[in-house]
Amino acid sequence: MVPILMVLFLCLQQNTLVFGFDSFNKLQLPSIGSESYTFDSDNNGPYTGLNDGRIVKFQDPKTGFIDFATTTSNRSKKFCDGTHGYNVNTSMICGKPIGLEFNLKTKELYILDAYRGLMVVGIEGGVATQLSGETHFDYADAIDIDTITGVIYITDIGDIFSKHRPWSDILFKADDRSGRLLKYDPQTKKIDLLLTGLAMPAGLAISKDGSFVLIAEYLTCKITRFWVKGPKANTSETFLELPGNPDNIRRTDSGDFWVAVNFQKLQPKLIAFPLGQKISAEGKILQTVNFYGEYNATDITEVQEHHGTLYVASIKNDFVGVYKGLRC
Ligand SMILES: *[C@@H]1O[C@H](CO)[C@@H](O)[C@H](O)[C@H]1NC(C)=O
Ligand SMILES: *[C@@H]1O[C@H](CO)[C@@H](O)[C@H](O)[C@H]1NC(C)=O
Ligand SMILES: *[C@@H]1O[C@H](CO)[C@@H](O)[C@H](O)[C@H]1NC(C)=O
Ligand SMILES: *[C@@H]1O[C@H](CO)[C@@H](O)[C@H](O)[C@H]1NC(C)=O
Repeated sequence: MVPILMVLFLCLQQNTLVFGFDSFNKLQLPSIGSESYTFDSDNNGPYTGLNDGRIVKFQDPKTGFIDFATTTSNRSKKFCDGTHGYNVNTSMICGKPIGLEFNLKTKELYILDAYRGLMVVGIEGGVATQLSGETHFDYADAIDIDTITGVIYITDIGDIFSKHRPWSDILFKADDRSGRLLKYDPQTKKIDLLLTGLAMPAGLAISKDGSFVLIAEYLTCKITRFWVKGPKANTSETFLELPGNPDNIRRTDSGDFWVAVNFQKLQPKLIAFPLGQKISAEGKILQTVNFYGEYNATDITEVQEHHGTLYVASIKNDFVGVYKGLRC
């Protein structure tokens, strides 16, 4: 009860409304943990990466999810399937696909593997090819593709996971600023560093017109804007402060954005609940959805709107959450 009252209070403070929905369904995954979703140019999907390294595709309600791709050439299903992906050594063998995004023009699936960086696989799936060359990634996390130029933006969270244990230290104490924003140009096949000093940049989305990139900084509860074009090109500024820790940002067809926001407070006692916030390209909060009813206090990694349906991801669950009929 307390968290729900709390969220109402928060939202009223921000002059936004709390919305509801007509139905909630689960698409059962073969194993636990999916961080991010993408759909191909024929609207098939969702596709998602699992904690155990598999990239799977939702085929149809009868079949469910099928294996689609991997990020390591000799991934063993016997050893890897069902592993939890929290051990870096296991992930080196099994793969750790985190961010996924289709280039809808070329029909290629771009994959960010936490440790291998940027990879690509064709629409037929299979073993992905590494594109990041010599560039070192501590923990590559979020990806988006400029639909006009094909340029790919990616974030690396930095070395926070190897420096801080347990998770509560990361969340409530870490002043880590080792995150980076990078871009890959498929024409030149080069990776460029755009921004350093980011506080666990867990989410990323490019604006519809390609003029700026939004970066979710998990530790500082804010969204930073990096200008790609125009008079402020190559500079960054704070775009929006949020009521909790943001994870992925996903753009809608109309050019708004959904941010997965995890409200988490330790004092006076631990309270946590997952929210989805829809924001406009001007930085106005348009909708706030509370997922506590279906997710309890589980933290979520992504909220994605696809053809009016909301898909909600969490690395802690073994399902894709599907919300239909969003209403006031
Ligand atoms: C294949 O996986 C094993 C661990 O199971 C690893 O030691 C080896 O280096 C891998 N080989 C290749 C070519 O990736
Ligand atoms: C990974 O392997 C290295 C070398 O064998 C070992 O020192 C390290 O403790 C392992 N890490 C984990 C998380 O198991
Ligand atoms: C932004 O940086 C790129 C190199 O990364 C440079 O080519 C471009 O001219 C810069 N633009 C401005 C407006 O400073
Ligand atoms: C939330 O809690 C209820 C009741 O304990 C449980 O049935 C449900 O599976 C939980 N949901 C998640 C996503 O953990």
